[in-house]
Amino acid sequence: MQKRKSEKRKIIVVTAYDALFTRIAEEAGIDVLLVGDSLGVVVQGKKDTLSVTMEDMLYHTRLVAGAAQRSLVIGDMPFLSYQASVEEAVRNAGRFLQAGAAAVKLEGGQAVADRVQAMTRFGIPVMGHVGMTPQSMHAYGGYKVQGKGKQPAARILSDARAVEAAGAFALVLEAIPADLAKRITRAVSIPTIGIGAGRHCDGQVLVLYDLLGLFDDFTPKFVKPYAHLKADALQALRRYREEVEQGKFPTDAESYH
Ligand code: KIV
Repeated sequence: MQKRKSEKRKIIVVTAYDALFTRIAEEAGIDVLLVGDSLGVVVQGKKDTLSVTMEDMLYHTRLVAGAAQRSLVIGDMPFLSYQASVEEAVRNAGRFLQAGAAAVKLEGGQAVADRVQAMTRFGIPVMGHVGMTPQSMHAYGGYKVQGKGKQPAARILSDARAVEAAGAFALVLEAIPADLAKRITRAVSIPTIGIGAGRHCDGQVLVLYDLLGLFDDFTPKFVKPYAHLKADALQALRRYREEVEQGKFPTDAESYH
């Protein structure tokens, strides 16, 4: 990833939660698969990510890592898996590697720098995540853009620097003004991966079901649906229902004789 930054070639990241979409994403040439705790919302149907457990994350990490052939698989550390102590953080991070991930991601800046340092010291590559960190949504009063104004922007910049200094190999910048993301991308030597952070980051990440147009309970401004799979699925399921009701499916072609 570091080489990509220096060569100014964008790093392409999507979230993945299962084997089927892992294979599709790899066929499409995606570089990095993040087993995001966003699965709490898009797979489990919860309103936020806070109830996602280590067991949930390890299960999905095994599915993705088991199917991935060439992409970098990163496991996202869920709420309460790294906050309580450095020791617990390292142990839980190690469990992601045992499940097949090549690295972990955790949210936070200066507050988690000691965790990042301990993990990297023990050979666990870490991706940082600063800006709007969804596990802190209650502290923000909801999912809100962060880093607007001089002081909040300076805080996020020093968070980014702290995570870099602690040894992270890359950094997610979420929901911050594009200008701030540009400054951070220039200020740190590790690649920045943006989500709602404008075009100047070294790479981009989107939640897979958002970019496929499968999940539309809420759509943040930064999401661009590249397909409309929910509409296609609805149409297919309605046609199937109608054809069964009308006796049009199955026909002889779909029957054994
Ligand atoms: O959980 C997730 O999917 C994430 C990405 C959106 C960065 O953290």
